[in-house]
Amino acid sequence: MSDLDQLMAVMEAAFDPHWREAWTRSQVENSLAMPNTYALLCDADGHPLEDGRKAAGFVLVRRAPGEEELLLVAVDPDLRRKGLGRSLLELFFAQARSHGAERVFLEMRSNNPALTLYESVGFNPIGRRRAYYRTATGEALDAITFGKNL
Ligand SMILES: CC(C)(COP(=O)(O)OP(=O)(O)OC[C@H]1O[C@@H](n2cnc3c(N)ncnc32)[C@H](O)[C@@H]1OP(=O)(O)O)[C@@H](O)C(=O)NCCC(=O)NCCS
Repeated sequence: MSDLDQLMAVMEAAFDPHWREAWTRSQVENSLAMPNTYALLCDADGHPLEDGRKAAGFVLVRRAPGEEELLLVAVDPDLRRKGLGRSLLELFFAQARSHGAERVFLEMRSNNPALTLYESVGFNPIGRRRAYYRTATGEALDAITFGKNL
């Protein structure tokens, strides 16, 4: 399986369609075709994915000079609450630092339980966009922007 296949397998299992957060294969493929976007995959031990192993989670990241934005983070639902989400974010921070980034950002729907994870790794809320997301049933949800200095 290619890395894109592995990423999409986690994507399809991880996101509840109600929140309409999952990206399609072509959205991921097109974004990874841009030089400023990259993905990191991890195995079930939280290590960077090596050939022949199954992906347990991924992050998708967009780079800009001095800062990087977490576009998506997801872990296989069967492997949650074992620290893999945290490991993925640590892999992301290390990679961003190695690119010279000093700050990282992300945006999250206001009721995502991932909030606890983000705060535990040092993200702080810095802004709110009113009614930025719309669920599958039409409910409007705010987006919260988080930042963290590396
Ligand atoms: C968010 C997500 C990546 C977390 O992955 P995970 O591997 O379960 O995270 P971790 O095990 O590293 O969690 C670390 C800590 O974060 C907090 N946390 C994680 N998921 C939580 C949840 N659903 N509810 C409450 N706290 C949570 C806890 O404090 C947890 O520590 P604990 O298990 O010792 O209590 C995973 O739930 C997921 O894929 N969700 C669906 C996709 C999504 O919403 N992504 C975020 C927006 S792009």
